[in-house]
Amino acid sequence: MLVLGIETSCDETAAAVVEDGRVVRSNVVWSQVAIHARFRGVVPEIASRNHLRAVVPVVEQALGEAGVPRTAVDGLAVTVGPGLIGSLLVGVQFAKAAAFALGRPLVGVSHLEAHVMAAFLADAPPEFPFVALAVSGGHSSLYRVRGLGQVRLLGRTRDDAAGEALDKAAALLGLPYPGGVHVDRVSEGRDPGRVRFPRAMIHDDDTLDMSFSGLKTALRRHLEGIGRPLTDGEVGDVAASFQEAVVDVLVARTLKAARVTGVRHVVVAGGVAANRRLRARMAEAARDAGLALHLVPLAYCTDNAAMVAALGYHYLFGELAGSRAVPRDLDMDPFERHVLDGW
Ligand code: KG4
Ligand code: ZN
Repeated sequence: MLVLGIETSCDETAAAVVEDGRVVRSNVVWSQVAIHARFRGVVPEIASRNHLRAVVPVVEQALGEAGVPRTAVDGLAVTVGPGLIGSLLVGVQFAKAAAFALGRPLVGVSHLEAHVMAAFLADAPPEFPFVALAVSGGHSSLYRVRGLGQVRLLGRTRDDAAGEALDKAAALLGLPYPGGVHVDRVSEGRDPGRVRFPRAMIHDDDTLDMSFSGLKTALRRHLEGIGRPLTDGEVGDVAASFQEAVVDVLVARTLKAARVTGVRHVVVAGGVAANRRLRARMAEAARDAGLALHLVPLAYCTDNAAMVAALGYHYLFGELAGSRAVPRDLDMDPFERHVLDGW
């Protein structure tokens, strides 16, 4: 079964064709990064206007690269939230129109569930139940996933998301937008022990929540204390130290979540899961704790539509076909926050 996935929740216009929820036939991501760079952040109004321009060509490119005529699509899946409401609206309206014109079924899926279920696009998919860390620009959450569509929130950030913290740190350090990937780059080979940044809530036993906003303030104070521009080497050391603090918290909270739930499989998903230091430290920690680690493949960490199509397959044609847990066909609205069960 061929599913066309569409993702427009933030500043990536993405479309993909996935076969049977596993085989990615095409995965097209058109990023608006260059357009938003001069504002150092995504401007919602500009994002939705650009989705409007891009959605048709991006979908046509995805069909073309997959070698699939539009009539061969068996069903469609689209992100309904969480995300920027104007951006989501473009994808949802396009998907409804396409589903109606083609006479094919459509499901709306959670952006967060799609990020986590992208782990099933790996060669060795996870086994249920698993603990999932979803870390992106907008979210940092831990879930216990018992089966498809069966999820419980274990903890989340109380303020900034991990990706947001890395992006803000990059801005303070004068690194280009978007920052996370640049923090990753300039940290390579530098000294993560150079500055001791706080690890908020890392030993807090009563909760699996996290907090990253104090870290940003600590960095600002540190830079004010130095009071002069940093050399490139110093920027690398400070970035590596900041990244280490974020990674320490994420690794510790995830391992604790596995411990308290007694779950042996762990998934790490979302844009920040592309971070090389996080991947390496998670691998080390999972090995030491005897856990099976499933890092989402790099191509499917940051926003993409392959994850949407893969998840959509299960709600359209797989074990969740007919389930009322997700909105279907023309009867759906996008939304900014998680309202899909548990996410
Ligand atoms: O999942 P995503 O593409 O979009 C959201 O749903 O938010 O995640 C974007 C976030 C941004 O904060 C970005 O800086 C971060 O993921 N990111 C990274 C890396 N690549 C992307 N953070 C650290 N290291 C990376 N290599
Ligand atoms: Zn995302």
